[in-house]
Amino acid sequence: MPSTVIIGGFFGDEGKGKIISYLALHDKPTIVVRGGAGPNAGHTIKDDDKTYKVRMLPSGFLNKEAKVMIGPGVVVNPEVLLKEISDFGVEGRAFLDNNCGIIEQSHREKDSQGRLKEKIGSTGSGTGPANAERAMRTLKMAKEIDILKSYIIDVPLEINSALDRKENVLIEGTQGTHLSLWHGTYPFVTSKDVTASGICADVGIGPKRIDDVIVVFKSYLTRVGTGPMPGELSAEETSQKGWEEFGTVTGRLRRAAEFDFDLARRAIMLSSANQISITKLDVRFPKCAGVKSIDDLEDDAKSFIKNIEEKLGVPVTLIGTGPHIDDVIDIRA
Ligand code: IMP
Ligand code: MG
Repeated sequence: MPSTVIIGGFFGDEGKGKIISYLALHDKPTIVVRGGAGPNAGHTIKDDDKTYKVRMLPSGFLNKEAKVMIGPGVVVNPEVLLKEISDFGVEGRAFLDNNCGIIEQSHREKDSQGRLKEKIGSTGSGTGPANAERAMRTLKMAKEIDILKSYIIDVPLEINSALDRKENVLIEGTQGTHLSLWHGTYPFVTSKDVTASGICADVGIGPKRIDDVIVVFKSYLTRVGTGPMPGELSAEETSQKGWEEFGTVTGRLRRAAEFDFDLARRAIMLSSANQISITKLDVRFPKCAGVKSIDDLEDDAKSFIKNIEEKLGVPVTLIGTGPHIDDVIDIRA
């Protein structure tokens, strides 16, 4: 499909990065563009023996033919961005918008102590304080930063022109629906709206130009940081189930719970999702590891997927069955 937006349906860390990198390689978008808050998001991508931890660039960078862009709604840490451009070898095809906000040392300091750190459990990346300053109209913009000059482009114009030429554009969300500043479990949320509409506004594409909205749910629920979490398991129960995970950005142990249909239903409603992606099916059902066809899933896993489709009324089109990019069952029409 020409334009696809991918968002998280729970509290972030649903495994979007893996699904996005699969789509970037498989659907051959000419542009992969990132919306969302900032470097508070971490995506982990495994390609053969390499593991990439991405905080600023879009996760679709493994497609070497694609341009990767960061939309104006995102706040950027220039050091993290430049390091990723160099480490991941994307020099020459990585861009950010004139109006991306800039995170400075003072924002990171404010984010690593006091109420934000202790009550909200923020990632300490400076994202929230930078967005607060943006609302005050005092934040620096990317166009004011010399070392970023050669990477600056008009992102909304680029993606809308690509769509005019009937090219594919992949729009990448970060965090998860229930961390949205508007729709999440306030005040235990991030500093932006991260539903599909918010992500589209971040990159500068209007609601009528979106063809597909894919919401990503993990096979179980995790949450890093504070805030309510229905049916939260103890650390011991989490480990017994094999659902133990550690944060990409902060290294913190993620809290875990059973798949939550109420949260999922609301995420679908808020973003008008027309497709569901389920990740980490192999963590729930180890026999599914590496399976590429729906027919080869064991019966329990098949019923788990069928139950999700029936209860939520939206088709499951992409299923993650392992950490590698091609560990995906792709059942899109
Ligand atoms: P902040 O976005 O760093 O201000 O953190 C606010 C809350 O959102 C904290 O509970 C964080 O752990 C959580 N959070 C922010 N970004 C992500 C993410 O990408 N994945 C998971 N949790 C996140
Ligand atoms: Mg993450």
